[in-house]
Amino acid sequence: MRLHQLFFFIFLSIFFTTSHGNNISLPSTCPVHDCGNGLKIRYPFWIFNTSNQYYCGYTNFGLSCATNGEPILTLPNDQYYVKNINYDNLTITLVDADVVNQTCPRARHNLTIDTLPLGHSDLNLNLKFYFNCSSRPSNLSPIGCLGSYGGLRSYVVSEDNEGGVDVSDLEHNCEEKVVATVMKREINIGELINGFGAAMNKGFVLDWRTMRDCGACEASQGFCGYNNTASKFLCFCDDGQIGEGNCTLGMYSITPLL
Ligand SMILES: *[C@@H]1O[C@H](CO)[C@@H](O)[C@H](O)[C@H]1NC(C)=O
Ligand SMILES: *[C@@H]1O[C@H](CO)[C@@H](O)[C@H](O)[C@H]1NC(C)=O
Ligand SMILES: *[C@@H]1O[C@H](CO)[C@@H](O)[C@H](O)[C@H]1NC(C)=O
Ligand SMILES: *[C@@H]1O[C@H](CO)[C@@H](O)[C@H](O)[C@H]1NC(C)=O
Ligand SMILES: *[C@@H]1O[C@H](CO)[C@@H](O)[C@H](O)[C@H]1NC(C)=O
Ligand SMILES: *[C@@H]1O[C@H](CO)[C@@H](O)[C@H](O)[C@H]1NC(C)=O
Ligand SMILES: *[C@@H]1O[C@H](CO)[C@@H](O)[C@H](O)[C@H]1NC(C)=O
Ligand SMILES: *[C@@H]1O[C@H](CO)[C@@H](O)[C@H](O)[C@H]1NC(C)=O
Repeated sequence: MRLHQLFFFIFLSIFFTTSHGNNISLPSTCPVHDCGNGLKIRYPFWIFNTSNQYYCGYTNFGLSCATNGEPILTLPNDQYYVKNINYDNLTITLVDADVVNQTCPRARHNLTIDTLPLGHSDLNLNLKFYFNCSSRPSNLSPIGCLGSYGGLRSYVVSEDNEGGVDVSDLEHNCEEKVVATVMKREINIGELINGFGAAMNKGFVLDWRTMRDCGACEASQGFCGYNNTASKFLCFCDDGQIGEGNCTLGMYSITPLL
């Protein structure tokens, strides 16, 4: 064996040894987590902690823990308390951190989920708030608890405007417009002015059905993960192998092939 061949052989050995030991995200690094209130956090949600939890869930579903023991989800515009995660019907219940526990909340941000694998549940209803308006629609009462500033008042209607109120003036004569989501069952459309605060405190429901692939993986003793670079579901199996959907077939190894 010539010298450069020997070096190449040594290089290959080292490469294989180190890359073989480099098993990026084993099941033990993806524990089920609890912020303190008993809500179980697992795939596709995960807790910001060590860097290699990157593969434990979907990139934007990393949760942090609030001091009151509730998990917090940060979406593009705002932060939300996670009230519930239902792993059977794949839904998450959120409350806007800006409005939590307030009797007369003033929504600050629109909910923004467009690029995320989240969808609105059929349980939801959007409320449209118009803040500090100079025009006064004749058939709509202002929200008393938000006050009046130099004659400016605030209004709320359901987004599909079931009352049939003419809001065209409000569209152009208010300081700010914000769409807030609540659950239909928590609010009476005829009582929006008195009921919106309590409804906003109950939050709203989003579904994460598109991240559902986990069932077959767990059934085959795997742990679910997500390759955020490739936008691909991963199933972590024994021996550092990664299944494409489950641990019974279609596995590939993370050891590079030469
Ligand atoms: C991954 O790590 C585990 C535990 O340290 C070990 O048993 C397993 O052989 C490793 N697998 C690979 C492919 O390196
Ligand atoms: C972070 O992970 C380590 C090791 O898994 C664990 O001991 C620790 O409690 C975690 N910290 C938080 C804040 O979750
Ligand atoms: C999910 O299931 C639970 C109980 O099975 C039910 O109470 C809840 O309303 C369901 N949520 C949705 C969004 O369907
Ligand atoms: C809101 O009130 C509930 C019930 O009193 C409490 O458990 C929770 O910690 C409060 N949330 C915040 C963010 O203060
Ligand atoms: C209306 O404007 C006043 C003065 O800028 C401000 O203090 C108040 O918070 C505003 N009200 C709402 C509901 O945004
Ligand atoms: C919320 O969305 C509406 C359109 O649906 C927009 O007109 C409004 O300016 C947005 N408000 C904020 C605070 O971004
Ligand atoms: C994730 O995807 C990237 C890009 O396709 C690939 O290079 C990487 O090896 C994948 N990682 C895992 C653990 O599958
Ligand atoms: C496991 O994965 C293989 C390969 O992707 C697939 O053919 C098979 O149907 C899967 N089994 C289950 C139970 O999902």
